[in-house]
Amino acid sequence: MTDTIAANTGITVTDTGGVTAVPGLLAGKVAVVTGGAQGLGLAMARSLVDSGAKVVLADTNEESLQAAVVELGGDGVATGAVCNVSDLQAVEKLAEAATTAFGGIDIWVNNAGITRDATIRKMTEQQFDDVISVHLRGTWNGLKVATALMREQDRGGSIINVSSISGKVGNPGQSNYSAAKAGIVGMTKAVAKEVAFKNIRINAIQPGFINTAMTAAMPQHAIDSKLAEIPLGRPGEPEEVASVVLFLASGLSSYPTGTVTEISGGRNI
Ligand SMILES: NC(=O)c1ccc[n+]([C@@H]2O[C@H](COP(=O)([O-])OP(=O)(O)OC[C@H]3O[C@@H](n4cnc5c(N)ncnc54)[C@H](O)[C@@H]3O)[C@@H](O)[C@H]2O)c1
Repeated sequence: MTDTIAANTGITVTDTGGVTAVPGLLAGKVAVVTGGAQGLGLAMARSLVDSGAKVVLADTNEESLQAAVVELGGDGVATGAVCNVSDLQAVEKLAEAATTAFGGIDIWVNNAGITRDATIRKMTEQQFDDVISVHLRGTWNGLKVATALMREQDRGGSIINVSSISGKVGNPGQSNYSAAKAGIVGMTKAVAKEVAFKNIRINAIQPGFINTAMTAAMPQHAIDSKLAEIPLGRPGEPEEVASVVLFLASGLSSYPTGTVTEISGGRNI
């Protein structure tokens, strides 16, 4: 996807007409993106940085983490923290590191994820537990730590939880992933009600079929059948997920909380 700068605005626009960044929109804000070393998380981080935020990427993959930080502009703009989101103490350390580096946290994206697909006949307990641990426990850890810090800071905040269309419709071969992604929706709404009085907003997104390494690895017949179900007639781009995160992270969405936004080109509506 080609990015161009719309004349006289400084706004970055893709060749599908998408706006991926709004310069200055997040000036003075600090964001944490888990699973930010690649894929959708890295696209989200780029959009936040290009809109003026400072970003802390958290990931288990140290090598890609460092490359991602350099790609985003390095020290002063972005930093990386090795962190397994399933581990509450590691997530607490991540929040401390972000506060030390940039003086607080305004935006937190619970994005880290894995898949361990198999039908229920073949899925092992380990495959079930691993997916629940990263997505559901990881999001809960992020919510626990981020809301505690944002309450203490007393300057509001925005948290975005990455669910999936799989959590809405259920995908065969993904009983673990669909359960975790549906659970993230319930968790988002419960905690949104708990912290709204502190002007902390919590919203979920449900991406559909997005052009990433994960979807590129699918067999062509599976790709074709999914594409046939998309009213917009094409897969989504990572930047088109990132721009929704940018909206939810910013003051452009000062009133929505507890919402679930589908980013699916109309698939499964
Ligand atoms: N790609 C899609 O089409 C799609 C669709 C719907 C939802 N999603 C969701 O979007 C999120 C990002 O997906 P992606 O396609 O970019 O995946 P990806 O595999 O490209 O990136 C995921 C990142 O998370 C990191 N990670 C994995 N386990 C971790 C852990 N325990 N702690 C910290 N980091 C960890 C990985 O190292 C990796 O950098 C996931 O939650 C995924 O379920 C993706």
